[in-house]
Amino acid sequence: MDILVKGGVLADGTAADIAITGDRITAVAPNIDAEAREIVSAQGKLITQPFVDAHFHMDATLSYGRPRVNRSGTLLEGIALWGALKREQTRKEIVGRALDYCRQAVGKGILAIRSHVDVTDASFATVEALLEVRDRVKDVLDLQLVAFPQDGWYRALGGEDQVIRALDAGVDVVGGIPHFERTMAEGAASVRAACELAAERGLRVDLHCDESDDPLSRHIETLAAETIRCGLQGRVAGSHLTSMHSMDNYYVAKLLPLIAEAEVAAIPNPLINITLQGRMDSYPKRRGMTRVPELRAAGVTVAFGQDCVRDPWYPLGSGDMLDVAHMGLHVGLMTAPDDMRAAFDMVTARPAEIMGLEFGLAPGRLGSLVVLDASDPIDALRLRPARLCVISRGRIVSRTEPAAWTPDVRF
Ligand code: FE2
Repeated sequence: MDILVKGGVLADGTAADIAITGDRITAVAPNIDAEAREIVSAQGKLITQPFVDAHFHMDATLSYGRPRVNRSGTLLEGIALWGALKREQTRKEIVGRALDYCRQAVGKGILAIRSHVDVTDASFATVEALLEVRDRVKDVLDLQLVAFPQDGWYRALGGEDQVIRALDAGVDVVGGIPHFERTMAEGAASVRAACELAAERGLRVDLHCDESDDPLSRHIETLAAETIRCGLQGRVAGSHLTSMHSMDNYYVAKLLPLIAEAEVAAIPNPLINITLQGRMDSYPKRRGMTRVPELRAAGVTVAFGQDCVRDPWYPLGSGDMLDVAHMGLHVGLMTAPDDMRAAFDMVTARPAEIMGLEFGLAPGRLGSLVVLDASDPIDALRLRPARLCVISRGRIVSRTEPAAWTPDVRF
């Protein structure tokens, strides 16, 4: 075998060694006694399948302050700033920033990212840049790209044609932004068009859906119905879904089973939406995250995404999915032990499921895993500790020393 990870602990508390040969896991058992090219000592440390970010914008990342900072903190000012930036940035700059971010993300144990890419940039530099990045990182990091018409499927001139052009160029997933179209009717029409296009081409769908505090923004209902009509069950995700926070409870009681029936996944983005939403409220201010515990209880697959790291919408972010889950469990009031464990799954196993990845700590799965300087998932969420060792497809791609803390104080 090539790598043997010795003495680790799995998320459920069982002790395990993990053997990797080539790019696959070949054994997971308590005491594997065999020769290996490389031994990774994980004594008592948590071994997890990789972190996965199911919602990101890599064409905008690390551009904070260009052309200026977002003073209102709103989605709409962010979109306006991005509009200005995309007219001036070059393909080379986008590639450089994206690769910088990918290095940081791998160091934090992220081995797959679904990134939306704005296809309404007339120069198409964003799409060309991220296709190049996808190719350059592919041996380590799975980058899935979504054809995202930021300025609207119909509202942007030629928006639909640009989505098709991006898919023709090799972008993986059909995107959309129905709440940003001119009217509710055009938003619903864009959802229908996106689902039909995905069905025609055998692709997945991931829409920015109802990223609004408006309780009447109900495009998720159309998305679920169109998913069923087009036979796309299990291949569709609704990202953000923040309007659900403000919807009438009676309506939501009908909506949740429909989302579950359609097997539409939900991808809330707690770091960004706790800052973008509720901006027009006085007090009390709404939390602006979708109804995570209720979606889970209805049987919907839910993953937390990061959305932004230092870009026109969000000034912070570090590529650490444990920060994302930490914020998500706070906003969702998910502090029961099972809920916290679920929050950990929502940045590892659940997004991998949504993206159709072969991660998982079992024989036959990809030889990709992370050793954390923590004993279990709850401790990992509490401490957000060093990723001691990151292995991607049978290759060690990052090591971090545990934090040394030597307080010079006596009590
Ligand atoms: Fe987004």
